Amino acid sequence: MADAAFAHPRLAALYDPLDPDRSDLDGYLRTAREFRARRVLDIGCGTGVFALLLADEGIDVVGVDPAGASLDVARAKPGAGRVRWIEGDATGLPPLTVDLATMTANVAQAIADPATWRATLRGVHAALRPGGRLVFETRDPARRAWESWTREHSYLRADVPGVGEVESWHEVTAVDGPLVSFRTTFVFASEGKALTSDSTLRFREREEVETDLADHGYVLEDVRDAPDRPGREFVFVARRP
Ligand SMILES: C[S@@+](CC[C@H](N)C(=O)[O-])C[C@H]1O[C@@H](n2cnc3c(N)ncnc32)[C@H](O)[C@@H]1O
Repeated sequence: MADAAFAHPRLAALYDPLDPDRSDLDGYLRTAREFRARRVLDIGCGTGVFALLLADEGIDVVGVDPAGASLDVARAKPGAGRVRWIEGDATGLPPLTVDLATMTANVAQAIADPATWRATLRGVHAALRPGGRLVFETRDPARRAWESWTREHSYLRADVPGVGEVESWHEVTAVDGPLVSFRTTFVFASEGKALTSDSTLRFREREEVETDLADHGYVLEDVRDAPDRPGREFVFVARRP
């Protein structure tokens, strides 16, 4: 099940205000600099926060996401004209040649369907130049992050310009092997109305990802820690030979 929130115009507009601290992207920016990337494909770019940070560095960026409402938010941001936005996913990309492909903020986990995941790895491989890299994170299942996806631990409140006060929280609805489903509730104080969105994420073991990468022709260069979430995420750095 895809996450409808990213494709819902009212909810897509809440993504940045409800999660303003994007220090999770610092490590990715350092990686882009480390590899001297000049052309980057940001898969699951959402509201374009990372794509626009890259564009600010003079990098040529393609941002792809299946959620049109999130892309609309991205396209309305200052500097958005410097990024090429594509509504879709990595399984149907136009011809591209990039130095680096990224999936920030656990996009890999949102690609829960195994066939779509495999097609994504194939599509990215085709878009990378020889020697180009795919960098992405996925939560370590052993840390059981979903156990804190309760109303009490995930509650957020923000004053959103033009919308007013919004509250949100997550609640897990099912755990089925590696698949964790949860519901996010958004309450709009001014209307006394709530909207909900259901999501399912796949928690992959490190060895499973390593096998998937090898099966799709990548060489694994490194598995790093996310600097802002030490011990909680695997950050894979894979290279197209
Ligand atoms: C948590 S958001 C992260 C957005 C962005 N990367 C960021 O750092 O803010 C997850 C994104 O993955 C996107 N997504 C879901 N399925 C996808 C797929 N098959 N291919 C690419 N992106 C996908 C969603 O539409 C959503 O925008």
